[in-house]
Amino acid sequence: METKVATITHQEKEDQRIYERAGAILRSGGLVAFPTETVYGLGANALDEKAAQKIYAAKGRPSDNPLIVHIAHRRMLEDLVETVSANTEKLIRAFWPGPLTIVLKKKPIVPDATTGGLDTVAVRMPDHEVALSLIRQANLPIAAPSANLSGRPSPTKASHVVEDLSGRIEMILDDGEVGIGVESTIVDMTTNQPVILRPGYISRKMLEAVLNRPIEVDPAILRGILLGEKAGGLLKEGQTPKAPGMKYRHYAPKAPLCLVRGPQEKVTKYILETIQSSNQRVGVLCTDETKPFYEAFSNAVVLSIASRADATAVAHNLYGALRAFDGWEVSCILSECFGLEQDTHLLEAIDNRLGKAAGGQVVILS
Ligand code: TXA
Ligand code: MG
Repeated sequence: METKVATITHQEKEDQRIYERAGAILRSGGLVAFPTETVYGLGANALDEKAAQKIYAAKGRPSDNPLIVHIAHRRMLEDLVETVSANTEKLIRAFWPGPLTIVLKKKPIVPDATTGGLDTVAVRMPDHEVALSLIRQANLPIAAPSANLSGRPSPTKASHVVEDLSGRIEMILDDGEVGIGVESTIVDMTTNQPVILRPGYISRKMLEAVLNRPIEVDPAILRGILLGEKAGGLLKEGQTPKAPGMKYRHYAPKAPLCLVRGPQEKVTKYILETIQSSNQRVGVLCTDETKPFYEAFSNAVVLSIASRADATAVAHNLYGALRAFDGWEVSCILSECFGLEQDTHLLEAIDNRLGKAAGGQVVILS
């Protein structure tokens, strides 16, 4: 299949033609990748079982890993879910459109292929003009996981989607780089106690401020943040994460990645010693502040993600940086951790994604 890449021009008439074409593909059961404010998504008609199945095939995604359904109007939600509680309503008012995915009890109209067989459905309204225009044009709820091959870093620009999915999908809408760079926060609202299933831009504190009550975090995620994970084998019996996707290794560059957690000086020292004792090319993912230390070694391929002080830039550059190492033939990548000790809302999400990219290879220095 030939994949058409259409560049959004921000000229109304030209873009309308693109949306009409993309909307027609979605209505006839095809796949269209599109930008959102978090990462690029791979869209299909969420109510069409066969279309949803095509997403799994294109990505090589395990079929028990459910998809997020994207909507463009508040009233599209009623078609998908049984009830919307007062608390859920508060979250919607505060954060939609925006990077918050809400898990609710589904109506029978949402097929098992979309929800991975669960009786719940994850829904969000993206805060991106292109995503919203496409959904409106298709006039359908759109199931969309991140538009990468399963296991690879999520795409933050259209060329990442081309790299992974060219020839496997009908169309890609290119509107440059996304804003945030890590996926939406997922919150489970199916029980009385709201639970965060995946950290993202909307932090626990932001949710607690709106609901005026404590919010729990899925213990499987906390364990991942604090201890690091074994590839696919993090969880003990009875500790399945509630978001099925969180149990898989994810976001992985081609070379093995080792995440080094601890106080910054100790992390730098550990990485320097590792480079020194290696006779191979070693990748280093670091920050502007620490880059000069590593560059002194000729066998180190060093990439600064951003300044340590700028969590927004670290999140924005994260997946692109992980993909960049694929072109550089390094034997392994050592990554610094990015300041979990600071209390800025994106750091949990960044650390969660890096821990998954490392797939269990985490060194903890204290
Ligand atoms: O920012 C985002 O959320 C992006 C953009 C494209 O919207 N999408 C995204 O989708 O990250 P994906 O498929 O890469 O991640 C979806 C996550 C998975 O971990 C999945 O297990 C979880 O959402 N999920 C989906 N439906 C669920 C449900 N009913 N209950 C619990 N977790 C669910
Ligand atoms: Mg994904």
